[in-house]
Amino acid sequence: MDNRASMDTGAFLANRTSISNRRHFLRAAGAAAVTAPALLRGASTRSWTEIERILASGNVKGRVARDEAPTPALMLDLDLFEANVKKMVAHARASNRALRPHGKTHKCPEIARYLVKQGAAGACAAKLSEAEVFAAHGVRGLLVTTAAVGKYKIERAVRLAGVAPDTIFSVDNARNAQELNDAAAAAKRKLWVALDLCVSGRTGVMPGVPAVALAEQIARLPHLQLKGIQAYAGSAAHVKGWQKRRDTSLALMTPAIETRAELNKRGIQTPWLSGGSTGTYNIDSNIDGITELQPGSFMFMDTDYNVIGGKETGESYTDFGNALTILATVVSRPADEHVIIDSGFKAMATDRSFLPVPKDPELKFSFGGDEHGKLVSTGGALKLQVGDRVEIIAPHCDPTVNLYDRLYCTRGNAVEAVWSIAARGMSQ
Ligand SMILES: Cc1ncc(COP(=O)(O)O)c(C=O)c1O
Repeated sequence: MDNRASMDTGAFLANRTSISNRRHFLRAAGAAAVTAPALLRGASTRSWTEIERILASGNVKGRVARDEAPTPALMLDLDLFEANVKKMVAHARASNRALRPHGKTHKCPEIARYLVKQGAAGACAAKLSEAEVFAAHGVRGLLVTTAAVGKYKIERAVRLAGVAPDTIFSVDNARNAQELNDAAAAAKRKLWVALDLCVSGRTGVMPGVPAVALAEQIARLPHLQLKGIQAYAGSAAHVKGWQKRRDTSLALMTPAIETRAELNKRGIQTPWLSGGSTGTYNIDSNIDGITELQPGSFMFMDTDYNVIGGKETGESYTDFGNALTILATVVSRPADEHVIIDSGFKAMATDRSFLPVPKDPELKFSFGGDEHGKLVSTGGALKLQVGDRVEIIAPHCDPTVNLYDRLYCTRGNAVEAVWSIAARGMSQ
């Protein structure tokens, strides 16, 4: 559908709040100049064939400028990304918790490997097909957070365990556990499994009696080995206000902690309990019984997380920087009041009620259809001209990343690497 271009008042107000929260952002490069030069600003003096050849070679460091990326392009500011990772790794280490960041955010084997190098225990994968991609690229310590249900998925799970034997598969159902066990037996393998607990109204077996019964069944199945508990409290992640978020997470996670204690009391050892999100990382790390954190968005951030409120920063959440942006080009200036960029619904996920936010706080974005976005000025005259580049922060990073094949990794004005989002579209 290509007719959702108008913005309602609520979304407009939310958008403006987000913009005012981000006054610290740098103005987009080139936005200050007014007159159009002979060469479109943002365009390279080199031929596209030459740039394409460099990109295809994989050796781009020092050879491509950020404004030579064809737009819409997904950009990663490496300084911010590395600082985000460093902070989360240090926090997990200081709290004596393992860190297994969720790969559903980045879908990029280079990033999964980088995180392990920085100290992560491995990577979570939302789906089997995502885990298969990570495993094929040498990532180990995988936790598949969604159950493998049905004959074909089970067949693939067993095959994946052959490639990456330490992979942990989530289970929340007795029949599924039996089928996994039987398939593993036929392949003469043993599978690590995690008991997926329903703590937040999504997947999982209910904590308490149902969870204990399932754990006891798993303990009797010779080809499954219970590794621990998977408990993701998604509905706590974006609760606004740190104190309120803390109360919510505590309330949701307590049944999981109690279930783990009960299992251990009955002699069913569950060495770990994995959970948590970008919004609750510094809450869950203080809950006794949670041994591992599995946040994802922290490495990129998005406008959704920017406004949840921090522990010491009031309404804005500044624990992590906005490393991920969409680079767009102004392709039309039909009137002095607005310009059209080449990025619309197909360039930024639209599952949130509020809008993408330009890094330049004097610009306001609204969708202009599948392929286009509209920018107006919130300050004085609109200075953007055709050919100018602008950077935009997506409302929701995970599904936005899933729209792109490559990630342009930049340091300052230089593209340092182009990473493949190899698990893009892997939703099976
Ligand atoms: C099971 C699970 N764990 C962890 C996360 C990471 O959450 P966030 O990206 O909010 O840090 C998600 C995100 O949806 C998830 O589904």
